[in-house]
Amino acid sequence: EKGGWSSFMAKEVSEEPEAVANTLRGRIHDGEVVIPELDGLDDLFAGISRIIVIACGTAAYAGQVGKYAIEQWTRIPVEVELAHEFRYRDPVIGPDTLVVSISQSGETMDTLMAVKYAREHGAKTLSVCNTQGATIPRESDAIVYTHAGPEVAVASTKAFVAQITALYLMGLHIGRVRGAVSAADAAEHVRELEAVPAKIQRILDNEQPRIEQFAHWMADTRSVLFLGRHVGYPIALEGALKLKELAYIHAEGFAAGELKHGPIALIEPGQPVFVVVPSPVTSAEMHKKVVSSIEEIRARGARVIAIAEEGDAAVLPKADEVLRIPLAGPFFEPLLAVVPLHIFAMGLATAKGLDVDQPRNLAKSVTVE
Ligand code: F6R
Repeated sequence: EKGGWSSFMAKEVSEEPEAVANTLRGRIHDGEVVIPELDGLDDLFAGISRIIVIACGTAAYAGQVGKYAIEQWTRIPVEVELAHEFRYRDPVIGPDTLVVSISQSGETMDTLMAVKYAREHGAKTLSVCNTQGATIPRESDAIVYTHAGPEVAVASTKAFVAQITALYLMGLHIGRVRGAVSAADAAEHVRELEAVPAKIQRILDNEQPRIEQFAHWMADTRSVLFLGRHVGYPIALEGALKLKELAYIHAEGFAAGELKHGPIALIEPGQPVFVVVPSPVTSAEMHKKVVSSIEEIRARGARVIAIAEEGDAAVLPKADEVLRIPLAGPFFEPLLAVVPLHIFAMGLATAKGLDVDQPRNLAKSVTVE
């Protein structure tokens, strides 16, 4: 039930802190990741030389975020591919390939068929899933459940942060099994993960009313662009997807580095552009690059809405609006930066009088190809 909330989506966004906390619960002991579901699979993880993550929509963006950390912690090359594209291109896979599927429902037909294809072609399969006993985990060699709780609104929100959390746990586990990440480094990453729920809560407490007000002012906007770099790039894509599906507004996400290769031609006076700004403390070099992207689009009249770390003073004079997130290490920022974007899309759809739980033409579980 919705409880006192105006929509399931509002309730589910408010549950993002718990979704992360519950996905971590029982899986950390003395700074080490312990995933009981993966017991006995050390040989499987020792024997792989590639990871391919497959999923659709928001789940695929979670995969794109996860790729950076998993590759870093396991030193195994990671690719991310849309499930429907993977299956129809005769991919080169075999017993050394781990295919990681991500699905909230566990029933998405495109993802299920890709998992079956991978198995039939000898790959190992691991499912990151939010629904106990769903078809995709049943078809997989291994499962890491997300514990976001039931997600009712069509748009995926709390499942997204839980998926990134589960991928990080999986990455740390595989990294430790293979000796690619030290116990001390893993413990530090675990501490960062454990701090995430309270940080998301701080965004909900401090920023939500302001973001909703801001979304209200923007209700007539016809096009919104989103820019990000590194782990901020899939967050930009996620921000754009949510705005399309909930508010029916043309929205597009770009890698900030791509601007001068084409998209900057879209910038005209008044064009709203959300920019996911990396922390000046934990990602100094990338912060500089993203700030210079902001300068380039600002010079062409863009209206810049920055999602920036609380202590980031440099961004203030350069943006029209700054939405604040707490300080976090580079891999953990996306778990925070996505929250204002979920609130914004929900707020704008609400301001337009739309049903945020049941957007037109969409179904929660896409069980057809
Ligand atoms: C977007 C959204 C969809 C799903 C996609 C995959 O808000 O909800 O893009 O993420 O249909 O669904 P699952 O995770 O159930 O496989």
